[in-house]
Amino acid sequence: MKSGKDSGKKAELTIRKNRELTAILEVSKVLTTSFALEKNLLSVMSTLGSLLEMQRGCVFLLDQNSGELRIVAAHGLTKHNIEKGKYRIGEGIVGRVLEKRIPMVIPNIGQEPLFLNRTGSRPEKDGISFLCIPIMLKNEALGVLSVDRIYSTKQGSVDDDLRVLKIVASLIAQFVKLWESYEEVEKEKEILKRELKGKYSIDNVIGDSSRMQEVFEAVHRVAPTKATVLLRGESGTGKELIAKAIHYMSPRSKGPFIKFNCASIPEGLLESELFGHEKGAFTGAIASRKGKFELAHKGTIFLDEVGDLPITLQPKILRVLQEREFERVGSEKNMKVDVRIVAATSRNLESFVSHGKFREDLYYRLNVIPLFLPPLRERGEDTLVLIDYFLKKFNSENNRSVHLDKSALQVFLSYNWPGNVRELENTIERLVIMSGAERLTASDLPVSLSLRRIKSSSQSSSLTASVGEIEKSNIIEALEKTGWVQAKAARLLGITPRQIGYKIKKYGIEEKVL
Ligand SMILES: Nc1ncnc2c1ncn2[C@@H]1O[C@H](COP(=O)(O)OP(=O)(O)OP(=O)(O)O)[C@@H](O)[C@H]1O
Ligand SMILES: [Mg+2]
Repeated sequence: MKSGKDSGKKAELTIRKNRELTAILEVSKVLTTSFALEKNLLSVMSTLGSLLEMQRGCVFLLDQNSGELRIVAAHGLTKHNIEKGKYRIGEGIVGRVLEKRIPMVIPNIGQEPLFLNRTGSRPEKDGISFLCIPIMLKNEALGVLSVDRIYSTKQGSVDDDLRVLKIVASLIAQFVKLWESYEEVEKEKEILKRELKGKYSIDNVIGDSSRMQEVFEAVHRVAPTKATVLLRGESGTGKELIAKAIHYMSPRSKGPFIKFNCASIPEGLLESELFGHEKGAFTGAIASRKGKFELAHKGTIFLDEVGDLPITLQPKILRVLQEREFERVGSEKNMKVDVRIVAATSRNLESFVSHGKFREDLYYRLNVIPLFLPPLRERGEDTLVLIDYFLKKFNSENNRSVHLDKSALQVFLSYNWPGNVRELENTIERLVIMSGAERLTASDLPVSLSLRRIKSSSQSSSLTASVGEIEKSNIIEALEKTGWVQAKAARLLGITPRQIGYKIKKYGIEEKVL
């Protein structure tokens, strides 16, 4: 009889020990999955609750600034209870445990005057035992772990519980220390990032890459001066944006910013557009008119596409650059202006000079401070921030919350953006406006984005393959334009419906499902 009782107890003990080990293993697993302080500690508390029948549990951490113990995670307590549960060091049992750095057990909290029940979570205190263990790392007390327990003969002993809780408390201590140093590093990173951004940031111009940071630094340096700036870069790299930034960051920001596109106006009209004319200067000049240089007085003139200036007009521009002087068309009167000149071109000016299309002296006058805007394909990290920026911009303009999943981002990053930021901006605007879904995957993106990538990565493949790819992309584009009506798409491409049907099969083209 006695031996039967003993073996029963033994079996119970083994079960209990197994559960303790499982609980400790669970706790250490939870604490090593991430650095989410509150979430992890909460999982620890619920593990203790479910595996070791500990009813309520709290982790209090010492706030070094206020000297208060704050509940960071609580199991079995309401939000209201948690907010109330603050203790000063030495106050109540939790406070005492932290101060004395030794565990305390209150066998029956109903009879313990020290038990303050700050959280108000135990309306009936009788019968509940309260176990409280300091969270220590070496000699430093970081906080307190507390649990409530109703003991019955079957449910283990205080000593067992204390032993397990001490192990758990030491695991928590190591985790909290790691978390603190992680937080510190994160904060430092954030500060450094902000400092870097603060140093070289320009309103509405995005660019974290070192190439763009160099441009920003140069803009900060030249903006306050009157120096002529020549912006170089492919189409859509932000030349106009930077020209405006230079103006608005300069002491002339309150003056006018006059943009003039040297390529957009017929040669015969260029001179009068730039320098103005007197009444009767030419047929149709019914009144005198100011030119762009006059309009830009006290401000900045932005000569866009300066490489396209006709050679005949270049001497007059050179004179303004050197003397800030000119005459209106049809007038002898010398005019003086106070303008800052910012010019831009996507052309190879040096080759224009060597071919006699661009005057060398004008080239040197313009080229005082050249700024090169790198193409997007050379600054991958900017692509990511620009995507983020444009998504925010167009989502808020259109009241949407479209975002890209990993596969879509991958397509964006591997595409080589021949149209640079402008193309990226337009693509995102179109996607935000046109897409039915909010979360976009690679298959929701225009086919041209993926195809360009394939083409660039298979340059060495045979000609037939690339012809096929082009044909396939043309067919898909036509199908998209015509709402996947094959007959209409065929008409658009100038082929018969039979031919398009054959090619759709050949290339395995399928309508994407949104
Ligand atoms: N770094 C950037 N941050 C945010 N927007 C940008 C950036 N660069 C370009 N953009 C946007 O991309 C578009 C094209 O820029 P911009 O007109 O300045 O290019 P560009 O170099 O003058 O091109 P083009 O030579 O074709 O005239 C604009 O809408 C501009 O706001
Ligand atoms: Mg431009």
